[in-house]
Formats: sequence, C-alpha cells, structure tokens
Amino acid sequence: MQQIRVRAETPDDFSAIDVVNLSAFEGEAEAQLIGELRKSPTFIPDLSLVAELNGRIVGHVVLSRVKLVSDQGESEILALGPMSVVPSQSHRGIGSELIDAAVARAKPLCYNAIVVAGHPDYYLRFGFRPASEWGVTCNLPIPDDALTAMELVDGALSGGGVVEYPDLFKALF
Ligand SMILES: CC(C)(COP(=O)(O)OP(=O)(O)OC[C@H]1O[C@@H](n2cnc3c(N)ncnc32)[C@H](O)[C@@H]1OP(=O)(O)O)[C@@H](O)C(=O)NCCC(=O)NCCS
Repeated sequence: MQQIRVRAETPDDFSAIDVVNLSAFEGEAEAQLIGELRKSPTFIPDLSLVAELNGRIVGHVVLSRVKLVSDQGESEILALGPMSVVPSQSHRGIGSELIDAAVARAKPLCYNAIVVAGHPDYYLRFGFRPASEWGVTCNLPIPDDALTAMELVDGALSGGGVVEYPDLFKALF
C-alpha cells in the first residue's frame, strides 16, 4: 500500500525538491525562487514541507513571511507557494495533504493569516476565500481573483491591505 508522509524539508532533500518543481512547472523559475527563499529572512524551515510516497519525494510546498500593509499598520502573515506535485502522482490527494499539513503547522507558530497567489478554484476547497472579501490585494501582477486568503485568527484580515511579496517572487511573472 502507498503511504504519503508529509514532513519538513532537510538539506538532503534540496535536489529532490528541485526535481519536483522542474517537473511540475514549465520553467526553472519556481525551483530557483525556492533556492533564493532559503537564503532569505522570510524563509521558515519548518514550513517548507515535502510529501514522500514510499520514501520518494513527490510533492513540496513552502510558506514564507510576507508583509500585510493596511491603514492599521503593518503585520506579518504567510504566503503559500510555490507548491508542486510530480505529474505522475497528481490527482491523488497529495497536494491536498500538503496544504492541510501546512495550515496545521502554521497555526501553532502563531501566524494569523495565509494568502495564496494561484489557481483560486483549487484553494477555495481548503477554506481559502477570495482575498477581495477582506479588501486584501497584493503587489504581484495577478488578477484580483487569483489571490485567496485564510484567517488563522478571526479578524486578522478585517483591516484589508496590500500583501507585499518580496521582489524574489517577481521572477515568476
Ligand atoms: C496544483 C497541484 C499542486 C495539485 O496537486 P495534486 O496532488 O494533484 O492535488 P490533489 O490531488 O490534492 O487535488 C487534485 C485536484 O486539484 C484540482 N486542480 C489541480 N490542478 C489545478 C489547477 N491548475 N487549477 C485548479 N484546480 C486544479 C483539480 O480539481 C483536481 O481534482 P481532480 O483530481 O478531481 O481532477 C499539482 O497539480 C501541480 O503541481 N501542478 C503544477 C504546478 C502548479 O500549478 N502549482 C500550483 C501553483 S498555484
């Protein structure tokens, strides 16, 4: 029987994570971004997660710190992504397991919200909602409806605001 295990990455996983990202995305931008994120102060090693299937890494997700700037001031929240599952293992719930694990691990670390710039239809099923419902936008060149968000603490996004992704993310666009 196939068993999926989600755990935090270790340096031994870096090349396997590259392979996952290079196979899931069309170019190298996501793999390179993850490498750059690891060197950045926004990176949280405990929130860079791999999915192992029978001991082989088949999926990866990373959550990193971003700023939310609103009229009420500045706070630090999390941005989910890039996220990837090798094409040969997609549609089997591995992505779902990665997201559930990422959300579950973010809560005890006391972050109060998560945003995702990506396919909204995918993330809504995990409890993410259109960020526009809170008046939250971001500094990436994406359509408004491509930004979804989840409060980990009630009211965390009620002041709206702009999510400031670090410049590193702009390489994706
Ligand atoms: C998106 C991705 C991580 C999902 O991983 P997964 O393990 O296949 O996800 P799950 O099995 O948990 O869920 C599969 C469901 O996700 C949905 N889904 C997959 N890709 C999607 C996409 N690009 N847009 C919207 N929904 C998508 C489908 O509804 C699918 O349901 P189905 O299996 O009934 O067709 C994976 O397909 C992937 O790596 N894609 C390429 C990279 C990418 O686009 N990453 C996300 C960037 S925001």
